[in-house]
Amino acid sequence: MLGRHVSYGDINGMASLRHAVCRHYREQFGYDLSPERVCITDGASGALTIALAMLLETGGEIILPESHYPAYRVMAKIFSARCRFVPVRDDYCIDVEQLPRFISSKTQAILINSPSNPHGAVLSAAELEVIASLGVPVIFDEVYQDLPLGDTPIPSAIHVADQHMIINSLSKSLAIAGFRIGYLIVPEAQVALMTNVKAVLNMCTSLPSQLLALELLQHRDELVGKHRALLRHNWAMFKQTASHLGLNLRSQPQAGFFALVDVADGGRDAMQMALELAQYHAIGSVPGIDFQQRDNAFLRLNFACPTPQIEAGLKRLANYLEQTECLSRSKLVSLNRRRDTVKPFSKASRPMKHFLGAVT
Ligand SMILES: Cc1ncc(COP(=O)(O)O)c(C=O)c1O
Repeated sequence: MLGRHVSYGDINGMASLRHAVCRHYREQFGYDLSPERVCITDGASGALTIALAMLLETGGEIILPESHYPAYRVMAKIFSARCRFVPVRDDYCIDVEQLPRFISSKTQAILINSPSNPHGAVLSAAELEVIASLGVPVIFDEVYQDLPLGDTPIPSAIHVADQHMIINSLSKSLAIAGFRIGYLIVPEAQVALMTNVKAVLNMCTSLPSQLLALELLQHRDELVGKHRALLRHNWAMFKQTASHLGLNLRSQPQAGFFALVDVADGGRDAMQMALELAQYHAIGSVPGIDFQQRDNAFLRLNFACPTPQIEAGLKRLANYLEQTECLSRSKLVSLNRRRDTVKPFSKASRPMKHFLGAVT
């Protein structure tokens, strides 16, 4: 079957897959999306690259929430645009009231991520509409929209997408990040530009991956439902275990699969801790500094893992924190000696290599 799909495919993706994306928006949100406005991309990352290439020019500005998925600011830099960071509120959402004062004649785009990485914070439908009404093109990154941790559905900006862009992917909702299937939705007037940029960037997204994604989308509700149930169960386990072990959690995510563990007590740098945890304890984590500049006293952990790994992994983390906090109080122990006291795992004895993996 794959033998029929060895040459280039349609630049914007297989028609059947684009129709499947449109069907999703019709069934879930009652929004009639035309397949011409959809481009199948190499994950949400591919969609983000195309969207930014379409909107940003050298010397222009892009508005981001102060705490954000790190690729946003790196991509802005690649396109030689300046980032303007809007503070986040106590609930870690971008401060919608303050946002307008960051808009200038140089603003070329606003980038909104709801639910957000790393906080799992969600903007209301009314807030999405306010942001869409500011007269600036908005890119809404909704990769965690399908994964609420509670019973309330997460709003999408699809209803304002006639004038704006939506990014999404199957990486998170169907847990198939390795397939690299995402999509970009643009206003009708920008379809030609989107197609040109996509053609220049990678001609077309992998056809075998598109075929597999199409197959999975036939069972979308069942697969997403199972994934959602696992994440809810894992989050409950994570909270319970963390509390039992005395670990402080920073966030109350409404969606997605990230937990933020407070590591302020040891007075140590979270970047250094993340490196040590990866190197000596087979735990993947992301330090706070990756997401914003102000606060490097937390680690972001991923609980989209087999449930039994949560307790084992959090115990390992708690042991590490206990040990390092204790040792960091003793000025007598040098970093090198400290490292010697933490026995590295041999390759063969790393059963939880993927535990709390650092999927950014
Ligand atoms: C907010 C956000 N956008 C985009 C992406 C990239 O997703 P993909 O794997 O589909 O490229 C991620 C991945 O972690 C993300 O967290």
